[in-house]
Amino acid sequence: MDHFAYKAGVLHAEDVPLPAIAAEVGTPVYVYSRATLTRHARVFLDGLAALPSKHVAFAVKSNPNVAVLRVLAREGLGADVVSAGEMDRALAAGMPARGIVFSGVGKTLAEMRRALEAGIGQFNLESEEEGVELARLAASMGLVASAALRVNPDVDAGTHGKISTGKAENKFGVPYDRAAGIYGRLAVLPGLEMRGLAVHIGSQLASLAPLEAAFVKMGELMRAIRAGGDAITHMDLGGGVGVPYKAGEVFPTPAEYGAMVARVTADWGVTLMFEPGRVISGNSGVLVTEVVRVKEGVSAPFVVVDAAMNDLARPALYDAWHDFLAVVPNGARMVANIVGPICETSDTFAMGREIDAVGPGDLAVFRTAGAYGATMANTYNSRSLVPEVMVDGDRWAVVAERIDPATILAAEHVPDWLG
Ligand code: LLP
Repeated sequence: MDHFAYKAGVLHAEDVPLPAIAAEVGTPVYVYSRATLTRHARVFLDGLAALPSKHVAFAVKSNPNVAVLRVLAREGLGADVVSAGEMDRALAAGMPARGIVFSGVGKTLAEMRRALEAGIGQFNLESEEEGVELARLAASMGLVASAALRVNPDVDAGTHGKISTGKAENKFGVPYDRAAGIYGRLAVLPGLEMRGLAVHIGSQLASLAPLEAAFVKMGELMRAIRAGGDAITHMDLGGGVGVPYKAGEVFPTPAEYGAMVARVTADWGVTLMFEPGRVISGNSGVLVTEVVRVKEGVSAPFVVVDAAMNDLARPALYDAWHDFLAVVPNGARMVANIVGPICETSDTFAMGREIDAVGPGDLAVFRTAGAYGATMANTYNSRSLVPEVMVDGDRWAVVAERIDPATILAAEHVPDWLG
């Protein structure tokens, strides 16, 4: 459920008509609904209500806008970060350092140092090598780093190959069979406090079954490590719960997810940690775009919009579906190809899709664009970096400005020696 709805025939974000935002900010523009963000954070937390001890760290990569993070900080969420840049955003949004988890296979020593100085709550180690480096660094700073070992459980998440992370051949975590040995070797290092295990098998999961299979395997590993004499007080179960992008798609609810987790982890005796991204941010944003023109095609017309794959990369990268709705529908329908202005064929949002009839100058939205939308935007074809707006009831504000090509050009230099 979200707070984007038609009122008197015009699509609104909460109480704000989208044409009002487009008129002032221009298009393309991402629009987020604060009420939707809050609602999704609460529904996720409610789903976990039965768990005795837990920490929810929002996956910042899904939407790192600092205003979005502020909303989630107010709901008591921490942050799952994968770079010092994301950590800085979480801190700037007012998230306490202790609530920050640092994941990722390529943390540099400089990033580890920054995170240690900030006093973050947990490092999720992706390799033994990384653990040894972190231990040495922390000890040299007179600190002890709290850490979990990310394990690759070799479970097929059943999602798109490019967003699967838990198969043995993926780059993430340590192999399941070697994890207990690595944990034991890291646990004795000064500078490191090994406190648990972490797992994340992929994103946009349509079923709970692979998650359950992974969690069961992690429980067995946890027991084996404890039997070997090492302590485990925290288990990080990652993110990955999917959301419907298309009418009729059915996804597990946070309540069903929470019930499964409660059942599988009933006797674990740990603090459970979660890293949800999309399930909180996905439905809380739309990308507003304007139709540039409608071009005749062979089997269907091309609706050329002013948003492109640089603004919303998911269709080009993962063949992802985003619903396309007219902001002021006229009741007619058309079958069309929806494309952006970028000079490559992958700049295609949909082919042969039945949509609201639109023409030049009409506004439309791509829905469910709050996760992995603006965060993956770039300036390919020397386009602007897309701006972001947040709506709260009947008020709204630009929460990320459009960065125009002139500003980007101004940061480039032609050395004198080029003549
Ligand atoms: N934790 C870890 C370690 C992750 O790698 C991810 C996502 C998450 C949590 C959050 O997953 P979520 O709850 O949002 O599914 N750009 C792709 C998605 C990439 C996901 C990367 N990792 C897309 O647009 O579908």
